[in-house]
Amino acid sequence: MIKNICCIGAGFVGGPTMAVLANNCPEIIFNVVDINNEKINNWNNNDLNELPVYEPGLSDLIAKLRGKNLFFRTDVFHCISIADIVFISVNTPIKSKGLGAGQASDLKWVESSARTIAENAKGHTIVVEKSTLPVRTAKLIKTILNSSTKKENLSSPSKTFSVLSNPEFLAEGTAINDLTYPDRVLIGGNDLSAIEDLKNIYLKWVPKEKIVTTNLWSSELSKLTANAFLAQRISSINTISAICESTGADIKEVSTSVGLDSRIGDKFLKVGPGFGGSCFKKDILNLVYLCKQYNLDEVAAYWEQIVEVNNWQKNRIYKTIVSKLFGNLSDKKILILGFAFKANTNDTRESAAIQISCNLLNESAEIIFHDPKVDRQQIEKELENYVENYSSIDFSKSKISFSKNIYESATDVDAILILTEWDEYKNIDWQIISKKMRSPSWVFDTRGILHQEVFNIPGINFWQIGNGKFSQKD
Ligand code: NAD
Ligand code: UGA
Repeated sequence: MIKNICCIGAGFVGGPTMAVLANNCPEIIFNVVDINNEKINNWNNNDLNELPVYEPGLSDLIAKLRGKNLFFRTDVFHCISIADIVFISVNTPIKSKGLGAGQASDLKWVESSARTIAENAKGHTIVVEKSTLPVRTAKLIKTILNSSTKKENLSSPSKTFSVLSNPEFLAEGTAINDLTYPDRVLIGGNDLSAIEDLKNIYLKWVPKEKIVTTNLWSSELSKLTANAFLAQRISSINTISAICESTGADIKEVSTSVGLDSRIGDKFLKVGPGFGGSCFKKDILNLVYLCKQYNLDEVAAYWEQIVEVNNWQKNRIYKTIVSKLFGNLSDKKILILGFAFKANTNDTRESAAIQISCNLLNESAEIIFHDPKVDRQQIEKELENYVENYSSIDFSKSKISFSKNIYESATDVDAILILTEWDEYKNIDWQIISKKMRSPSWVFDTRGILHQEVFNIPGINFWQIGNGKFSQKD
């Protein structure tokens, strides 16, 4: 009988996932722990606007469950010692140096979690991989856990472990909905009793036909494959957007027509400035690294191309802007609308906005940033990190400013660049804006959110991604 669950990692996955589990399993205590004390303090903040993660519906769940059966704590050792199940939900970024740098997963947080579990667990503990991991990471975890039991009397060890893989498929911005109505829950493992225990938790709200069990390696590989396929569709449609711009076709019409084929489907065919987020790039590169390790060079090259195309899409947007503004951005002001990697999240990791704005700054543009959920410090941190990695980029901080009011900040700008599809950008009054901008003024819509009618507003030149109307006369 599972009574107590600990989740290591109170991030974008750990927090929302445990909130939904706690909501559906009121008889189980959920302790979410993290080595980052400030993050835990923020999860415990009375002001629900200050939670470390913004997700629609999340703050209501936290208000309902926190202090009842959901707790955010820093006493990691104790929470592990009383847990029947421990989820590992820690970050798995790309290695920045050493063997596999730039492609392989950095597993140091996973390894340290496994060691902490090995040292502090008591009795039988089910250890669940929630993080996205290279195939066969469960073996590494098992080895670490078992090495702690080997030090004991083998005939009656005081602690035993089962390791399962249960990757998470939630998308940011829709996390609560995705967790509440998942397309599937995947559980990989070979200990039938542990699988049954985890399955029984999900069965509280997930229909049984949606719970899929596989072997450990299939489960780990399915997660990488799902992300690679989703990213592949985005890169594919983004390449077609460029053909639309050259030929007079319209990407929205092409996407709709193609997506109506039930074998293809209509999801993930939205054109954009290139996919962002903490996972697509890292997971594909991780797959690429895995292929190379198994000498599957052609397979590696195939998947690597998805990331290449994504970089190309970001660069071609920046080059389009420079070219429309007469090849020169010095003494020009650009208002960037949106810095989050997609709408309805405050996450900016790998956002297309980072590379595009750094390239514009490098051309000596002055940039005003606006985002409803991302603050100034976070934008500055992302830009600084990018410049640290790409030392060829050069700009002065005096060229950057931040605004919370779109209309005020449009005064005297030469261009407005929409990078995130926030709802408030869909209803901008372009008549008002057109009177404030400096002429000749440009609006670049990289998300395809503006309607046909606005394109005729006098005083503004519009450019929309994948819309051949702007480059080709009939
Ligand atoms: P995150 O960086 O938001 O959170 C990870 C947390 O783990 C951090 O707060 C960190 O301090 C904590 N941590 C690291 N090592 C620890 C340790 N030893 N003990 C206690 N805490 C520790 O990361 P995330 O976005 O939640 O992603 C976590 C994993 O889930 C990654 O593998 C990611 O690929 C995967 N994933 C992410 C998403 C997403 O939408 N973000 C979706 C599905 C899967
Ligand atoms: C993605 C997957 O959708 C989740 O299933 C997965 O669990 C998660 O990665 C993960 O492993 O981290 P997420 O990155 O949060 O989720 O968000 P997505 O909705 O997939 O969007 C990713 C990026 O692709 C965003 O920049 C988004 O704007 C872009 N995108 C998405 C498009 O450009 N076009 C689309 O049609 C869809």
